[in-house]
Amino acid sequence: MTRFAPSGPLSGALSPPPDKSISHRAALIAAMGEGETEVDGYLDAADTRATLEAIRSLGAGVTEVGEAMRIQGVGLRGAAPAEIDVANAGTLLRMLPGWLAGQGGGSWTLDGDESIRRRPVDRVAEPLRRMGADVECREGRLPPLRVGGADLHGIDYRLPVASAQVKSCVLLAGLLAEGETSVTEPATTRDHTERMLRAAGAEVESVGLRTTPITGGPASRIAVRTTERLRPGRMRIPGDFSSAAFHLVAATIVPRSAVRIEGVGLNPTRVGLLGILNRMGAAIEVEEESTDGGEPRGTIVARHSKLTATRVHPEEVPVAIDELPLVALLGCFADGTTTVSGAEELRHKESDRIASVVHGLRAVGGEIEATEDGFVVEGTGGLRGGALDPCGDHRLAMLGAVVGLASREGVEVDMGAAAVSYPGFEADLASLTATD
Ligand code: S3P
Repeated sequence: MTRFAPSGPLSGALSPPPDKSISHRAALIAAMGEGETEVDGYLDAADTRATLEAIRSLGAGVTEVGEAMRIQGVGLRGAAPAEIDVANAGTLLRMLPGWLAGQGGGSWTLDGDESIRRRPVDRVAEPLRRMGADVECREGRLPPLRVGGADLHGIDYRLPVASAQVKSCVLLAGLLAEGETSVTEPATTRDHTERMLRAAGAEVESVGLRTTPITGGPASRIAVRTTERLRPGRMRIPGDFSSAAFHLVAATIVPRSAVRIEGVGLNPTRVGLLGILNRMGAAIEVEEESTDGGEPRGTIVARHSKLTATRVHPEEVPVAIDELPLVALLGCFADGTTTVSGAEELRHKESDRIASVVHGLRAVGGEIEATEDGFVVEGTGGLRGGALDPCGDHRLAMLGAVVGLASREGVEVDMGAAAVSYPGFEADLASLTATD
């Protein structure tokens, strides 16, 4: 248990760890590639180590050279049969089957920890079966998952839920399928896979992709064709916006704070929280500096601000999905009633994030109610503090720490899970609250 005491102002600057979502994709696409790929700034955390282990067991070579990871690919059709332990990594669990499914004659199993065993995989099994793969899962919908590779054919797939993981899975399978494979998403989801596949030489066509951070976007159709080889060459991973978000929100709610977060990924399909913060009246400045490696990155400055409540609409949910627990916290400090709707997907994350956020914030004095697809928060101007149960979920543990700094009495929270995405979180947060 760690206690986070009420804090004085946060100040100073830091760079968050490399992006988790992009790191998973970098390892997978490098493994699918020809020859060697150098990945600059691969995230060193439990989730992304599981992906390195997975590609190793499929036959890829992985060497750490200073800050970079050198990955020797096995090619699109060269994965060795293996039993894969995805640990807690949902992105690995959902994306990897897409690549494996197209390799005729191969057979793989994917399993993971207790939380992963509760996460649905029928959402990837179904489209892969429609493409011709042989996929089995426990009780028809849960891991372990067995993937039997086959000769696939392209499909036009309409995502029943706006999920970047499922979109990515179908697109990866599409690279090995005959003809064209398309995915139509009901709202814009993160597009890291598309950007990375294009950079590796695949033909990826996106139609109707509108990516505004304020509202998310309407339906988009993304299509790929049979691809002979991928050559990623070199990749550079920006800082993780989802990790940076904890510091940005802490600075917004702790009086007199001002922090500068550098080298952060600013992909418009990820930064929906910025639009939400703007609407709530937060003083946020964003400076885009480069689009190195196909992903925009830059600096975000956040200052303590007086907040007003907002309504988060269903179409902006996918571009802020992992930051919605923080929106609930912002709502506790805002004037009025903050609502999030259309976010039933939160129930299928590392924990049921509607239940765990509501339970966690109530335990520290928050006035928050769960709805079927989100939550309703009454702003009370602050939180008392107490003990917050992170339910084994990394984002809930970090939320608890931020609550502690902004609370009147401090918060006790088990920080064990934070290592899944941000092992240096406590040290980074402490550096912003140091008083020398
Ligand atoms: C991710 C997509 C999102 C997100 C998850 C990472 C990804 O999940 O919540 O943390 O890397 O593609 P869904 O695709 O299930 O919405």
